Amino acid sequence: MKSFVILCFLAFVALSTAKVNYRGYKVYRFTPNTEEHVKLLALLESVGVKFWDGPSGIGRHSDVLFAPHQQTDLLEGAMTSGMEYEEYISDVQSVMENERVAQAITPGDINWTNYFRLADIYDFLDKKAAASPYATVVTYGKSSEGRDLKLIKISKSGETRPAIFIEANIHAREWITNAVTTYIINQLLTGTLQSRLDQFDFYIVPVANPDGYEYTHTTDRAWRKTRSQVGSCRGADPNRNWDYQWMTGGSSNQPCSDTYAGSKAFSEPEARLLADYYKNIGSRVRLYFAVHSYSQLFLLPFGYTAARIPDYTRYMQVANQAAAALRAVNGISFTSGNIVDLLYPASGGSVDWVLGKYPSTRLVYAAELRDTGRYGFNLPANQIIPSALELIAALNVFLDHVRT
Ligand SMILES: *[C@@H]1O[C@H](CO)[C@@H](O)[C@H](O)[C@H]1NC(C)=O
Ligand SMILES: [Zn+2]
Repeated sequence: MKSFVILCFLAFVALSTAKVNYRGYKVYRFTPNTEEHVKLLALLESVGVKFWDGPSGIGRHSDVLFAPHQQTDLLEGAMTSGMEYEEYISDVQSVMENERVAQAITPGDINWTNYFRLADIYDFLDKKAAASPYATVVTYGKSSEGRDLKLIKISKSGETRPAIFIEANIHAREWITNAVTTYIINQLLTGTLQSRLDQFDFYIVPVANPDGYEYTHTTDRAWRKTRSQVGSCRGADPNRNWDYQWMTGGSSNQPCSDTYAGSKAFSEPEARLLADYYKNIGSRVRLYFAVHSYSQLFLLPFGYTAARIPDYTRYMQVANQAAAALRAVNGISFTSGNIVDLLYPASGGSVDWVLGKYPSTRLVYAAELRDTGRYGFNLPANQIIPSALELIAALNVFLDHVRT
């Protein structure tokens, strides 16, 4: 056990320097069945082994990234403990190379058969706003590294209507989330969702963590956090950093951890400034929708407690109806449930803050988009449009529900 912990630590140090190549890295899915298994996963996480998400509790899986030289020891450790595991991704670099990233040929000219860098996404917002009398790009602050934090506001009403807020890509590596979100923006302005502008005002953040997102392109595709500097480690998890029941479970106080909650609540400008903007409109918002990947879930707050919200039954009915509408598009299944029931405790998330501070918001959900782990965060670009179309079917269910 000791030697494998040391090995993990060395691997982590190696990971934090040059551009990361994931050739030979594998993702294994572990399913802990005893408290001992759960502790073993937590230990791995604490020494810097990268979890795609998690570590999970009994009976729920964790997807874990292993460097080539870790595989023997770590699997031996798991085997000795009797924990179930399965190889999920046999070569992580291959799925990363299969995603397809492009550079827009003319500014703002993105499409949904490729992934795009931040500058192209921001150009797209500007281009859309310039072409529409209803859309405005708002810069609501600067990230740790000085990048603009941007949202697009689409309102025909002079911001008097019930509002819909969509937040995407707060976790850097969840690329599919900005792609489906720009697709939705496009449909609102020039496509099938235009009639929704007569019902609602929309506020949409396609890349809530721009520093992290760019870092996934330049340096480490598997990066999750912000890029703030904390001692010798970089970044906090901006979805563990919101000032509502902060650090009450499922977050780490270790700056090197992928679920580091930050030095204090709202230490990260990416979370704090989004919340500051939100306070201007929060009382008008009927649906807050946080878009993540992956796992195919509709998640209900809260993440900090296993206790169910008073409106649990209504939330579940609407989520199940949305999942049925989503499934009807391409046959993809989403599961609905509490964050703690389906995943693990996770305090300091945006949905907790929104529902905690604005309890009369009609619907507050987080979604985990495609897939269930075979590509994970590295969903090929040819799945963007199908993912967007199915998510729009679900979104329409939410919008119908919050109309009245
Ligand atoms: C999408 O944009 C990229 C980059 O501009 C371009 O190479 C590609 O041909 C475009 N795809 C389609 C289907 O238009
Ligand atoms: Zn996420």
